[in-house]
Amino acid sequence: MRVFLAGATGAIGRRLVPQLVDRGHSVVATTRTQDKVELLRALGAEPVVVDGLDAAGVGEAVARAEPDAIVHQMTALAGTPDMKHFDKWFAVTNDLRTQGTKHLVAAATASGVERFVAQSFTGWNNARDDGPVKTEDDPLDEHPPAEQTQSIAAIRFLEEAVLSAPLEGIVLRYGSFYGPGASESLVEMVRKRKLPVVGAGTGIWSWIHLDDAAAATVAALEHGTRGVYNVVDDEPAPVATWLPYLADVVGARPPRRVPVWLGRLAVGEVGVSMMTQIRGSSNAKARRELRWQPTWRSWREGFRRAATA
Ligand SMILES: NC(=O)c1ccc[n+]([C@@H]2O[C@H](COP(=O)([O-])OP(=O)(O)OC[C@H]3O[C@@H](n4cnc5c(N)ncnc54)[C@H](OP(=O)(O)O)[C@@H]3O)[C@@H](O)[C@H]2O)c1
Repeated sequence: MRVFLAGATGAIGRRLVPQLVDRGHSVVATTRTQDKVELLRALGAEPVVVDGLDAAGVGEAVARAEPDAIVHQMTALAGTPDMKHFDKWFAVTNDLRTQGTKHLVAAATASGVERFVAQSFTGWNNARDDGPVKTEDDPLDEHPPAEQTQSIAAIRFLEEAVLSAPLEGIVLRYGSFYGPGASESLVEMVRKRKLPVVGAGTGIWSWIHLDDAAAATVAALEHGTRGVYNVVDDEPAPVATWLPYLADVVGARPPRRVPVWLGRLAVGEVGVSMMTQIRGSSNAKARRELRWQPTWRSWREGFRRAATA
């Protein structure tokens, strides 16, 4: 297949290009900057410089590439997280999920592209009621913390745009990434004991190693059908379980514990929600329908191997 990969230089893109090339696909890979062109070439892709928010530029790049499939991996999350002003932190990512998706879908339709795979997310956007683990059929959070309203709306927009487009539209809801390029700052915070367990640490997280996320993306491209797939590992786990474990495997002292009122002052409503209320996700559909399974079946072995690598 000839694949147009938008957002090829990020944490997931860099792991995805080599897997696509290994499977015999040819990859046209985007970056906004000339500086990263050589990196893309070294990974085995044909680089193209384009801004995902430039409708005409995207249209031209896709038309010139003549791809069979488009993969949308554009986000703008490098830099310091800001839990207290979550929507501000996610603002450009939200533009890439709304305008960026629109431009890519329009380009796909104009160029007769038949398959489209887009990055979405599962975790803090799950409804925070009923059971601890959600499937693709469960609703997204309709009453999120105020500071996450725009970010959840952007995810909804992306998913609806991809699923309603006149092509094979596939949405991959990745869990929280870890692996090279994804977890260094988290580990640094854990080492410095700057990430406490808030309240009872009952927020459930679903993790996924970048290489497993990339493998699921290749599987979705090759034989996924229109729909949504959670791409997470086999062990959704509460913060109170994974955070002390992570501290242990990286040789840090156990995380501090702080009450909810203090957590709210430090990380706001969104941070408290992530630490105490969010729900995890099931990978049963991706396992069944994509003929995919995570190599790192649990974050336990993944964190331990990553820490010793
Ligand atoms: N599911 C998850 O947990 C999840 C999902 C996404 C990101 N993250 C985390 O967020 C952190 C940063 O992610 P990242 O390293 O992937 O970097 P990033 O800054 O989010 O960039 C990701 C990709 O999007 C591209 N991009 C950004 N703005 C663009 C635009 N206007 N037009 C076209 N392309 C654009 C970048 O390309 P250029 O800069 O080369 O143009 C890059 O290839 C990492 O720790 C990552 O693990 C986590």
